[in-house]
Amino acid sequence: MNKEYRVAVVGATGMVGQTFIQVLQDRNFPISKITFFASKRSAGSTVFFRGLDYVVEELTESSFDQCFDFALFSAGGETSLKFAPIAANKGVVVIDNSSAWRMKDNIKLVVPEVNSHVLKKGDLIIANPNCSTIQSVVPLQVIHELFTVKRVIYSTYQAVSGSGYKGVMDLKNGYEHKAPEFYKKQIFDNCFPHIDDFLDSGYTKEEKKMMDETKKIMGLPNLLVSATCVRIPVTVGHSVSMNVECEKPIDLIQLSKAFDANSNIVFYEGTHYPTPLDVAGNDLVHVGRLRKDLSTENGIHLWAVADNIRKGAATNAIQIAEYLIKENLV
Ligand SMILES: NC(=O)c1ccc[n+]([C@@H]2O[C@H](COP(=O)([O-])OP(=O)(O)OC[C@H]3O[C@@H](n4cnc5c(N)ncnc54)[C@H](OP(=O)(O)O)[C@@H]3O)[C@@H](O)[C@H]2O)c1
Repeated sequence: MNKEYRVAVVGATGMVGQTFIQVLQDRNFPISKITFFASKRSAGSTVFFRGLDYVVEELTESSFDQCFDFALFSAGGETSLKFAPIAANKGVVVIDNSSAWRMKDNIKLVVPEVNSHVLKKGDLIIANPNCSTIQSVVPLQVIHELFTVKRVIYSTYQAVSGSGYKGVMDLKNGYEHKAPEFYKKQIFDNCFPHIDDFLDSGYTKEEKKMMDETKKIMGLPNLLVSATCVRIPVTVGHSVSMNVECEKPIDLIQLSKAFDANSNIVFYEGTHYPTPLDVAGNDLVHVGRLRKDLSTENGIHLWAVADNIRKGAATNAIQIAEYLIKENLV
């Protein structure tokens, strides 16, 4: 009989937590026991999983005294910093969606299609990258393997669900001309180049995450990366315009064939292109608008769209767990 695993979902009542529940069901993840945690605020509420109601428990320092194999965390950075080590000390493999652990030297930051090979038995805290970064590095790795990427410039168009339920409520309330409660500016009928806090460099933290995380995931510390991240009034689905410069001359037909043959990518040829509405509820990265950048040698443009809560968060984390299981690393 195939082995089944004991799973804790931390942040189960949130946008990503609810999607964990959906994706675990959709992918038929092998589970012998599952427990759902949130803060005191939601303790006692119920979540529905595989036909049963489960009572949400308050996350406390003794939560991991119950035995688990995996803990899927999506409860913010502070919660991760405090509780992931407690879980790891009990031998639980934590896969964390917050940015708290991503850039720490001894922590693996993983997109399975790109760098699952870094995972080893005994990795107990594993970081899931930023949502826009995940969907960007999947096609970027394909380009890199063929033509050696030298520089990439990202311009993102990010959905409000990237901010959790608070962002979605601000967009919905905007339809009724109510003032925003979460964003500093109105998102309804608007967009703004401001995701997360500003840094002294003039970049935002979200932009810095994309720049740093791309290099770490691809194992290319000297890659030149820049980003501008923009919030747009779309509920689900981030889009990224990517301008990529390579060392070698780019053969567009060869690259199109490589995208087409890649089971993690849905490739749109010619004048066809993906939109956020096309990708909601889907686990793949959708790529289109592939063309030469006529302003530079060895440059291309492309457009990558993915469901930010699934591939950008829950699905990627569950794919990491699936890889550990397949390779007998847990
Ligand atoms: N949304 C995205 O597209 C996305 C993508 C990638 C990564 N992430 C990251 O994933 C995390 C969650 O994001 P989200 O969008 O799901 O946010 P969210 O909708 O606001 O949900 C937050 C969740 O965390 C729980 N939580 C908060 N404080 C807690 C505590 N002290 N102890 C236990 N649980 C606590 C909340 O429980 P209560 O119900 O009790 O408040 C809720 O379940 C964040 O770190 C975010 O940066 C989000």
